[in-house]
Amino acid sequence: MSDKINSKITGTGSFAPPRILTNYDLEKMVETSNEWIITRSGIKERRIVEDGTGPSDLSLEASKIALREANLEPDQIDLILIGTVTPDYLLPSTACILQDKLKAKNAAVLDIVAACSGFIYGLSIASAFIAIGQYKNVLVIGVETLSKIVNWEDRNTCVLFGDGAGAAVVSATTEEKGILGTFLSGDGSLANLLHIQLGGAKVPLTKENIGLKQHYISMQGNEVFKSAVRAMEGAAKHIIQKVGLSPEEIDLLIPHQANIRIIEALAKRLKVPMDRVYVNIDRYGNTSAASVPIALDEARKKGVIKEGSNTVLVAFGAGFTWGSAVIKW
Ligand code: ACO
Repeated sequence: MSDKINSKITGTGSFAPPRILTNYDLEKMVETSNEWIITRSGIKERRIVEDGTGPSDLSLEASKIALREANLEPDQIDLILIGTVTPDYLLPSTACILQDKLKAKNAAVLDIVAACSGFIYGLSIASAFIAIGQYKNVLVIGVETLSKIVNWEDRNTCVLFGDGAGAAVVSATTEEKGILGTFLSGDGSLANLLHIQLGGAKVPLTKENIGLKQHYISMQGNEVFKSAVRAMEGAAKHIIQKVGLSPEEIDLLIPHQANIRIIEALAKRLKVPMDRVYVNIDRYGNTSAASVPIALDEARKKGVIKEGSNTVLVAFGAGFTWGSAVIKW
């Protein structure tokens, strides 16, 4: 016990829409093959929302599970943070929509646009608010419906992404465990390697430009690949060193699930064997901000994470943004 206010995760939940899109389904949509997708990315299938289902709906399901596990009522939540690049609406935030659906009437509400790093950015902001004593219970969510913003005629991107949500309740504690440290970073100079050019306030979507199909994700995959490995290695090493862990003391590494080859390259550079790395990209594809919290929830539910063990979270995404966290359970 100490006087310092620490943060710990008291509940997690995740939800992915039931509809499965396999690589074989994609073979009928674009010029690709199951073999190419598996070898180049590790993805076998991904979940896709039905029309009319928004990120707030996926977030609601994941949040209910996390709150139940944390033994909290929605009105005990002080702040809702949602990492997403696929909000229900441009205005207001998805956190506002979720607050109403969840009846979390005492919560402040904020969306975080940090792409695949959104959940880790959320954890970091949550623990900072808790450390200064402003909030006790923060609901942090990563959610995406990337299926709505990919060009289903572009094989470079459409085979990679999927939909889903993951949630975590972060609560104040005086115990010497929980979120031991977080690290956040970014580099806006590389924004054009992974972006959506049209449909924002700078160049709104019009009937003249809609045919360009630039209101969908465009990505220079192999450039992003190299930056992802480099940045996640740096972020993980930075936070491990800051909290005083050695690679052998990492019981579980949960990296952003973008590509199995990125995950393997990262694990090798960090000297963490693959049996201590959580991988579910084969079943979900890249769910951006949802990827780390879905994996975290699955790892907890499967009993992979034990009391007293150390978990390292690390992510990288459009922006570029990247970040890491160490959690002692
Ligand atoms: N099926 C078949 N062939 C394909 C497909 C496909 N679906 N997609 C691309 N190809 C072709 C390309 O056209 C290219 O052909 P060419 O050599 O004739 O030009 C060839 O395959 C190789 O393409 P590369 O892009 O060099 O393939 P690479 O090995 O780099 O794999 C991939 C591509 C999977 C996209 C990889 O680069 C990657 O995972 N990049 C990182 C993505 C990522 O980490 N994103 C993170 C953030 S996502 C976010 O923030 C929302």
